[in-house]
Amino acid sequence: MQAKDRYAKLLFDSGLRKEHLVCPLFVSERKQKTVSAMPGMNVTPATRVVEQVSSIRQAGLSSIIIFGIPKDRNKNGSEAYDRNGVVQRAVREIKGSFGKSINLITDVCLCQYNLTGHCGLLVNGSVDNDKSIELLAKIAASHAEAGSDVVAPSAMMDGQVRAIRHALGKDAKILSYSAKHSSSLYAPFRSAAFAKQGVINKSSYQVSFSNPRQALREIESDIKEGADIVMVKPGLAYLDLIRAAKDNFSVPLAVQNVSGEYTMIKAAGKRGWIDEEQWKVLSIASMKRAGADLIISYFALDVAGYLAE
Ligand code: PBG
Ligand code: ZN
Repeated sequence: MQAKDRYAKLLFDSGLRKEHLVCPLFVSERKQKTVSAMPGMNVTPATRVVEQVSSIRQAGLSSIIIFGIPKDRNKNGSEAYDRNGVVQRAVREIKGSFGKSINLITDVCLCQYNLTGHCGLLVNGSVDNDKSIELLAKIAASHAEAGSDVVAPSAMMDGQVRAIRHALGKDAKILSYSAKHSSSLYAPFRSAAFAKQGVINKSSYQVSFSNPRQALREIESDIKEGADIVMVKPGLAYLDLIRAAKDNFSVPLAVQNVSGEYTMIKAAGKRGWIDEEQWKVLSIASMKRAGADLIISYFALDVAGYLAE
């Protein structure tokens, strides 16, 4: 059997289908087209989103998550909630062209937009949770107003889901990055969005790998606050929590196969030290097996190539 058919069968047997995959899209107003720490990953200029989404549709995928990269940062990160911000415009264009045939998810955070690179607003050197959730609710409302189907708060601020639910009513679904672990595996993503702030310590609001009970408590409280979908992130090092979340809660469960997981496989694969294709396939399969209903992965397009309609 050809490698392609073999992987297709292995993925099918693991229960993976195209509808489980979510394709990330970096939409940028800057000139930069590639991500230095993510070989093979492109940044889509704001003017070309429709083209890019069209090729994702052609690969048979219908869920996308947008990460915005604004032209400039400022103190409060105000482009994040600007009606004409990069994400809001991209959402209007995508929805205008593809309507309901695309399930559009938008990442809701401040860290690509403010000067510090932190997910919340810093007041006297530390994150002010309550001021931050006000801003996050404003961002989410502006995404929903532009036509986003699902807003996905990734800031890990306490009460962010409740604040967003309150601001939105029933206008959009909420996918909460509930158990987002503090990790250097997000550094490649940050190289796409910030350049300078690759190393930044978010451990005061993200979860520690040593505290699985807290991760489950975060999921539980997000569901109580009104989350429609919850998330565990990263994937590979947290397969036990994916299984625990799947067994303990009934809302759909998303997993983000993060930038560093992509980069590790790419980097070792490029040198011929591991079999890149095998690791791409088996790592996604492991997340499905562990219980993920949705998998956000920079490998989504590659993996879709192995799956039937
Ligand atoms: C924004 C956000 C990040 C990621 C998703 N949304 C960066 C961070 O929290 O520092 C990470 C995604 C990845 O590494 O693939 N808060
Ligand atoms: Zn953030």
